[in-house]
Amino acid sequence: MPKIFVTRMIPETGIKALKSKGYEVVVNEKAENRSATKEEMIAGAKGADAILSILTDKIDGEVMDAGLPTLKIIANYAVGFDNLDVEGAKKRNIVLTNTPGVLTNTVAEHTFALMLSIAHRISEADRFSRAGKYHAWGPNLLLGTDLSGKTLGVVGLGRIGSRVAYHAVRGFDMKVIYTDPKSNPEFEKEFGAQYAEKLDDLLPLCDFVSIHVPLLDSTHHLINEARLRIMKRSAYLINTSRGPIIDEKALAKALRENFIRGAAIDVFEFEPEITPDLKELDNVIITPHIASATEETRNKMAEMAVDNIIETLEGRTPPNLIK
Ligand code: GLV
Ligand code: GLV
Repeated sequence: MPKIFVTRMIPETGIKALKSKGYEVVVNEKAENRSATKEEMIAGAKGADAILSILTDKIDGEVMDAGLPTLKIIANYAVGFDNLDVEGAKKRNIVLTNTPGVLTNTVAEHTFALMLSIAHRISEADRFSRAGKYHAWGPNLLLGTDLSGKTLGVVGLGRIGSRVAYHAVRGFDMKVIYTDPKSNPEFEKEFGAQYAEKLDDLLPLCDFVSIHVPLLDSTHHLINEARLRIMKRSAYLINTSRGPIIDEKALAKALRENFIRGAAIDVFEFEPEITPDLKELDNVIITPHIASATEETRNKMAEMAVDNIIETLEGRTPPNLIK
């Protein structure tokens, strides 16, 4: 009977689907409110045919070796897979999969929730109200910024970036400028968008900048102090991708010294740690990596990860193979 090691509890629908196949499902129950430890991953990998991993699990060669010779697939419960050693898996003939597509709408919605919240000062206003500071309506009380008519810079025009651009143009009459390794003339035509070959050409033109690239060596600290300095002083930066894409120390400095007006981030450079400076500042909104966290989407992610496992263990190519 194939053994499936699940590093953290996922929505029940996924566990049920695995059990209905007759698999032995071992959930790492110890890691309830924390990440799985390396020791737990190694112990769980032993004799497993599949590992269902989450994005905080650093799955390296050591964990993979612990699963050999039985381990055939590691199904990541995330679209991002910077936590997996792709080359190491190739060498060991272990299949890797992720969960693209099903979370696109949810992450795009969260991106907009952040963008609207920082521009309209929602969490600051909430703190203000709860603190009993609201004494009278005021013409200048907590003034924010409109999204309508502004320019949004989309850094990375993948599924999520495209969906964010769609909301911006269709819902808020925003103008979109985007960067991506390649231009997309069809998208430009449909959304009146403009391609910037270089990030440095996009940044000075945008009122909002939203990051939608994967974490790679080439995107680590893509947003650094120099780049924060060429953004408009009135601009807002949004990040729902991966934390290390922004130099968080530089971001804290930029927010403190007002090189930019604000930021809203769902991911952190040293996750789950948050640069202490950021927590002191009012012009930043911080959410704890929940951009895909709706019931609907987390269920779909579970079903997709499970489907990838079943397809692989039954000898077929899984639908979401990482190449
Ligand atoms: C979440 O960050 C994901 O990559 O799915
Ligand atoms: C992720 O799914 C992306 O393509 O943005």
